[in-house]
Amino acid sequence: MRTLIEKLENQGVLTKEEYSALIRSRTPELAGLLFEKARNIRERYYGKDVYIRGLIEFTSCCKNDCYYCGLRRSNRNAQRYRLTKDEILECCKNGYGLGFRTFVLQGGEDPYFTAEKLVDIISSIKNGFPDCALTLSVGEKSYDEYKAFFDAGAERYLLRHETADDEHYRRLHPKELSPENRKRCLYDLKEIGYQVGCGFMVGSPWQTAENLADDLLFIKELQPQMVGIGPFIPQHDTPFGDKQAGTLELTLFMLGLLRLTLPYALIPATTALGTIDPLGREKGIQSGANVVMPNLSPVSVRKKYLLYDNKICTGDEAAECRNCLEMRMKAIGYNVVVSRGDCCNFNK
Ligand code: 5AD
Ligand code: FES
Repeated sequence: MRTLIEKLENQGVLTKEEYSALIRSRTPELAGLLFEKARNIRERYYGKDVYIRGLIEFTSCCKNDCYYCGLRRSNRNAQRYRLTKDEILECCKNGYGLGFRTFVLQGGEDPYFTAEKLVDIISSIKNGFPDCALTLSVGEKSYDEYKAFFDAGAERYLLRHETADDEHYRRLHPKELSPENRKRCLYDLKEIGYQVGCGFMVGSPWQTAENLADDLLFIKELQPQMVGIGPFIPQHDTPFGDKQAGTLELTLFMLGLLRLTLPYALIPATTALGTIDPLGREKGIQSGANVVMPNLSPVSVRKKYLLYDNKICTGDEAAECRNCLEMRMKAIGYNVVVSRGDCCNFNK
């Protein structure tokens, strides 16, 4: 298995059989070797820098009904809110003062925010903060809508593919959501010129080592600039409320494989990782990740954006999270930097 890790390091890809064998036969020793190589590669491209993204969760309303997600429309217990344009701009202002140069507008698929409303919000943010990058994460849209957002100034887009295996995808989603459309969206976004992020949950129900291998191969093919992965964590009011959570150990191993597969990628140590282990984000950085995404949403709405149970940082002001993360990164020898943090393999 050591030779497979070396092969991955040298060639940047393995076959499906090799990836899944490696995932299945992983040991703490192999993981140690993998993380060392992942850190080396990450440092070759990005040094000890950790990029910060200011996350603005602007709507908890969602028309979709994904079986894993606490914001699914059938969850009667979910608390719904929408931020106004002024509230969103206020989050950006606060974040700008704290050194954020990327804002991520994330929300459920909320029909209230029509393309027209979103274009207006995007242009206002770009006008107010021209030196900042703007990332959207608002789900599946048409080519024309994606194009309109891009023309208004959005330059990055996050849309996790969730799982590259079509049959697995159908087990995680109701039938109105299709794996084909998900992938169509990702390729449209690339074609339009966005820096694109895909990603998946680790340890989602019924996931196999082969599924994870397919995720890595899909990512290798798509060549996204960003990849977000985190453990699946059950939310008690969803159909998957009694399923097992993904583990820290497997998530870290996947982060290491991801770094060797896509050396230049921007890979966050996610909030979900910080939720399943008090030092999860630190361990994520030490396994190959290079981004953290603290929350800029007003504290008054934080507890209403609960994709999964026990989410961290729901009571902390943006400034507290910013400082907390800076200290956490310093403690492991990394530096949070004030910059847009563009992908080093993206030419505009
Ligand atoms: N556990 C972990 N991650 C989740 N997401 C949604 N629900 C959960 C959950 N229960 C992730 C999905 C989605 C992103 C916004 O959050 O991957 O794309
Ligand atoms: Fe939010 Fe530590 S990052 S309190």
